Amino acid sequence: MLSKTIEEALNNQIRIEAESSQIYLAMACWAEVKGLEGVSNFMYAQSDEEREHMLKLVKFVNERGGHAKISQLAAPNVTFKSFKEMFEKLFDHEVYVSQSINELVHISLQEKDYATHNFLQWYVAEQIEEEAVARTILDKINMIGDDKGGLYLFDRDIENLTVTTAATNAPE
Ligand SMILES: [Fe+2]
Ligand SMILES: [Fe+2]
Repeated sequence: MLSKTIEEALNNQIRIEAESSQIYLAMACWAEVKGLEGVSNFMYAQSDEEREHMLKLVKFVNERGGHAKISQLAAPNVTFKSFKEMFEKLFDHEVYVSQSINELVHISLQEKDYATHNFLQWYVAEQIEEEAVARTILDKINMIGDDKGGLYLFDRDIENLTVTTAATNAPE
């Protein structure tokens, strides 16, 4: 059974994951109209992943005797000055989500809710991955600078981007 405090905190995270999905969907659209198909497909996939993160939380809240709240979402940015700016925003957003997950873990310990604490470990590991991917992309974008040929290759390769982190090899 979830305490009201935990239920509220989890519902807040449900909103954040839903907003992440919308933010990345808007980025996918922007990349698509700018003609970068690879970046666009990558962002559509990121948007789907965020929806999965949200659904996982929704199911958990409902299964544990709470009621998942589907709330109004903040409107995302729909245009960007450059791809660099777009990926900077993506990285900043992932860092923000990680902070929010950390806060949630902290609350679960305060409430002595070890089931929720255990459930949240998946999100802790996921955020390590997401930050690493965002950082890798940003490094590549910074290397490319204004080089159109570089951007072409980046767009071609981004869908096959794999990033290995300490969490990737962590024991289950
Ligand atoms: Fe997420
Ligand atoms: Fe994410």
